[in-house]
Amino acid sequence: MRQPIIAGNWKMYKTHTEAVAFVKELAPALAPFSAVERVVCPPFIALAGVSEALAGTGIEVGAQSMHWEAQGAFTSQIAPTMLQGLVGYVIIGHSECRQYLNETDETVNKKVKAALAYGLKPIIAVGESLTQFEAGQTDTVVTGQVRAALAGVDAANLNNIVMAYEPIWAIGTGKNASSEIANRVVGLVRNTLAELYGKPAAETVRIQYGGSVKPDNMVEYMSQPEIDGALVGGASLKVADFTRLIELAAQAKGL
Ligand code: PGA
Repeated sequence: MRQPIIAGNWKMYKTHTEAVAFVKELAPALAPFSAVERVVCPPFIALAGVSEALAGTGIEVGAQSMHWEAQGAFTSQIAPTMLQGLVGYVIIGHSECRQYLNETDETVNKKVKAALAYGLKPIIAVGESLTQFEAGQTDTVVTGQVRAALAGVDAANLNNIVMAYEPIWAIGTGKNASSEIANRVVGLVRNTLAELYGKPAAETVRIQYGGSVKPDNMVEYMSQPEIDGALVGGASLKVADFTRLIELAAQAKGL
């Protein structure tokens, strides 16, 4: 079985002090659920403090993005070399970065390759907009994003990659995609991986759903066969909610 993976994407929330205090409270609460892979993705400035506070807890830390160059004259950016040793994961291609920060399929691909080259595991986010969803373009958009993100990535790297399907219209809107829709599109992501790398390899890749995941809809998502976890925004910002999500993920997968 694929190990479930729940990642909290904190976005632009929590100061360094708040972040460290938060994970000190979170770590003991999550301790009983080590069967689920648990990841927190704080803002860059809190990564060092959070990594230190979580050392030895089994809880992983992720960055929310990065640049693809090892270093250079890129004011404001964070390089993969700076994340090495500090985090295990890095979210790449989040729709908010695509929408507000000029992230494109091309930069996603560069970042995915750079992450893998520096030993970081990318959580690659894909998903369609409301207009695309309503126009029936979900499948074309999502498969296109998956193929573009993974161009030139070889099969040996697949076990270091997590995919996340996040319909943009369901992020932070409270409008979650039904678990049937989510499962179907996550299955489509897996089929695309199978076309690229073969079915056995595709079966090993963990694929999350994201978009308004909350304790009261978690079981529905996690009971779906294709869905291996969740990328959670709002509900990852409270210790009780995030803990409950992890507990429900474990229950739904029979762990
Ligand atoms: P949300 O965010 O859970 O607040 O909808 C999900 C995400 O953006 O990853």
